[in-house]
Amino acid sequence: MRVAVTGATGLVGSRLVAALTGRGDEVTALSRDPVRATERLGVPAERWDLLAAAAPADALSGRDGIIHLAGEPVAQRWSTAAREQIRISRSQGTANLVAGLAAADPRPPVLVSASASGIYGDRGDEELDEGASLGDDFLAEVCRSWEAAADGASELGLRVAKIRTGIVLDAGGGALAKMLPPFRLGVGGPVAGGHQYMSWIHVEDVVGLYLAALDGDEWSGPVNGCAPVAVRNAEFSRALGRALHRPAVLPVPGIALRAMYGEMAEIVTGGQRMVPARADALGYHWAHTDLDQALRSALAG
Ligand SMILES: NC(=O)c1ccc[n+]([C@@H]2O[C@H](COP(=O)([O-])OP(=O)(O)OC[C@H]3O[C@@H](n4cnc5c(N)ncnc54)[C@H](OP(=O)(O)O)[C@@H]3O)[C@@H](O)[C@H]2O)c1
Repeated sequence: MRVAVTGATGLVGSRLVAALTGRGDEVTALSRDPVRATERLGVPAERWDLLAAAAPADALSGRDGIIHLAGEPVAQRWSTAAREQIRISRSQGTANLVAGLAAADPRPPVLVSASASGIYGDRGDEELDEGASLGDDFLAEVCRSWEAAADGASELGLRVAKIRTGIVLDAGGGALAKMLPPFRLGVGGPVAGGHQYMSWIHVEDVVGLYLAALDGDEWSGPVNGCAPVAVRNAEFSRALGRALHRPAVLPVPGIALRAMYGEMAEIVTGGQRMVPARADALGYHWAHTDLDQALRSALAG
């Protein structure tokens, strides 16, 4: 297959590009820094700053599929400027991708776009499949406008799948890498009471879902990107302690996180209990369903 990938240099993108090239696909990365992208990934890259212009139609024309991962990192202090970057990189950035797709000839048949579990808002113990109602906090609004922009591609005739990604387990980056230092020192523990659910997914399964959605004609619409069983934060902390052979009992108060990260702390003090109903219905074979095993695997790299 010939596949173009935005955000290819990121945590998920770099793993996905390796999987695509590993199975013989021809990949082109779209990056703000194509020289660095080619150096890092070993594939050709074209320049695209997603806020500056429509995606280059020549990089999209004739592809068998497009995977859209690019966007401003969410896990940072939400200053006014950061919030705006997070928001417009998803809404305007994705609209600019769709504008490029409109000009592409021949047009690719499928777009697989990232989205996030945050689309449901903070939902306590409620089990959330893809039919659940959506949230209305900042992150939920970001994800809603992101998915709405991606749906613009279906009006152009593309099949569109949106992977509502949970917490990706990969020791090389993302949430797990941020959690590791205190846990390694034996001062990690449950956050803000630990009752909130964490919809985790091993990076290998994130990649697996993107590949399945790229390949499978029946994959369209929202797809919850999480392992079959979400766990509470306290249980996740215990499992991480076990994986690292460290105690994980020191509670981290929500107030301390809010002092450090401001409003962004809500992505760890709240949570979602997602159920991957669509992926299960489509017969996806999970590589990692047990959290202890998934953590050991992620930490082994
Ligand atoms: N990792 C998770 O746990 C998780 C959970 C839920 C959702 N997601 C979503 O899934 C997607 C991929 O996740 P990831 O963890 O791989 O992301 P990541 O590591 O932050 O990488 C995203 C890529 O997007 C590009 N980018 C970053 N900031 C940008 C900006 N302001 N404007 C334009 N492009 C920008 C960068 O590529 P270039 O520098 O090459 O342009 C970067 O490599 C993201 O959209 C993320 O929000 C991830």
